[in-house]
Amino acid sequence: MTDRPRTVALLGGGVIGGGWAARFALNGVDVRLYDPAPEAERLVDEVLSNARRALRRLTLAPLPAEGAVTLAAAVEEAVDGVDFVQESAPEREGLKRDLLAAASRAAPRDAVIATSTSGLLPTRLQADMAHPERFTVGHPFNPVYLLPLVELCGGELTAGETLERAAAVYRSVGMRPLTLRREIDAFVADRLLEALWREALWLVAEDIATVEEVDDAIRFGAGLRWACMGPFLTYRIAGGTAGMKHFMAQFGPTLKLPWTKLMDVPELTRELLDTIVAQSEAQADGRDVRELERLRDDCLVSMIQGLRTHDYAAGAVLGDYERSLFAAAPATRDGPDEAPLRLYATVVAPEWIDYNGHAHESRYLQVFGDTTDALLRHIGVDLDAGSSYFTVESHLSHLGQARAGDRLRTTTQVLGHDAKRLHVFHSLYRTDDDALIATAEQMLLHVDTTTDRASAADPALLERIERIARAHADLPRPERAGRAIGIPQ
Ligand SMILES: NC(=O)c1ccc[n+]([C@@H]2O[C@H](COP(=O)([O-])OP(=O)(O)OC[C@H]3O[C@@H](n4cnc5c(N)ncnc54)[C@H](O)[C@@H]3O)[C@@H](O)[C@H]2O)c1
Repeated sequence: MTDRPRTVALLGGGVIGGGWAARFALNGVDVRLYDPAPEAERLVDEVLSNARRALRRLTLAPLPAEGAVTLAAAVEEAVDGVDFVQESAPEREGLKRDLLAAASRAAPRDAVIATSTSGLLPTRLQADMAHPERFTVGHPFNPVYLLPLVELCGGELTAGETLERAAAVYRSVGMRPLTLRREIDAFVADRLLEALWREALWLVAEDIATVEEVDDAIRFGAGLRWACMGPFLTYRIAGGTAGMKHFMAQFGPTLKLPWTKLMDVPELTRELLDTIVAQSEAQADGRDVRELERLRDDCLVSMIQGLRTHDYAAGAVLGDYERSLFAAAPATRDGPDEAPLRLYATVVAPEWIDYNGHAHESRYLQVFGDTTDALLRHIGVDLDAGSSYFTVESHLSHLGQARAGDRLRTTTQVLGHDAKRLHVFHSLYRTDDDALIATAEQMLLHVDTTTDRASAADPALLERIERIARAHADLPRPERAGRAIGIPQ
């Protein structure tokens, strides 16, 4: 996390600039944003609130405290003293060149300056800059706060070190940089997307498919596959046991058939534009863009989390990112042992609320599970060394209600332990009035995760637990500890 800048300057706060603001701020980076549009602040706030919602669903890893987003009145004010600048102004070469030149004169000499351009050549964009060697393309994908890919492409004057520094910054906020080997218009991803987009427009222009049918053709088939396999691995698999050689022999010749209209663009007549707009509106079915973004984000979150279970593609990026967040979370284990321990705090998210207007009962177990995770980090459980504790029994008591927006905190008391077992009692409080709203008594079993069998914890871990148990020895035994469920006769 050391590559994470303290403050970044963003030039342009539209769809992409707003997404960058969210990506950086939610990763603990302060953002100074310059955008001359009067409604920029409101739009960025809207993107930020969708992004917070998406990230809360994506990961339970401890994100750093949110960075501040402040508006700057001029380019010079935005870039003053920052380590990193990301330009996301409209895709017009002249405008970008002027903006980048102004930023380069005012920013610190060694600040990396990146552009979000979708396809303009970096050699041309850096032409008027002071110290153009610290300039690179950093082309992201919408929504920037969820999709990990960012394409890097240097121009003729870009230093190799700039590409490495920019990649490290993007990695530090959970992204997956892809550095181009050579400068080309539109880079790699937009070359591919443009080819598909041209064909899609032809299919609608010639009334072969509606916009909905084109979308269906992707989302029910190839789109699902691309998220994990990409085109080459897809076709390697399609070649069967004989592999790519067989695939190319079978389908290579079809490339010569006149299937594609790739270099012809359908004329964007009034009639075609009206058709596309009308069909797209019908497809949106009255949902506004923020609502559609939330639907898109929820689906992306589910897909990325699904891929994480396979430690593959975007899911592997999420897994690495979460591990780095856990590693960077402030270590609590070196301080004195509180009695009881206070290791976890959270806020009741709107989606926790059920039809009764309070948090669904499953969320209490989630909060206690997160508290147990915090305890395991506190005592120094090393997952990489094959050591973990699994919860083998939980006893929840529900004593009060939690509503959306309530701040919650938990405490943890160690009730007992031996070489393999750890007996704990968690209490959940509403922070604002200190009301006790739930408790959980749990038995945890030490497991060797290389064999998935119960095993004795190593002596260093037992020593840590012993220290905490000594600090907790004088605490009164919680009233609800050891209770069984039943109707007294
Ligand atoms: N939309 C996408 O899917 C996408 C994806 C990747 C990259 N990009 C690239 O990102 C950049 C921004 O695209 P967008 O979709 O966010 O556009 P947008 O129109 O939503 O936002 C552009 C913003 O720049 C502001 N602006 C105008 N002049 C400015 C100036 N002189 N200084 C600072 N800000 C100024 C505008 O007020 C606006 O808020 C473009 O280069 C685009 O190619 C877009």
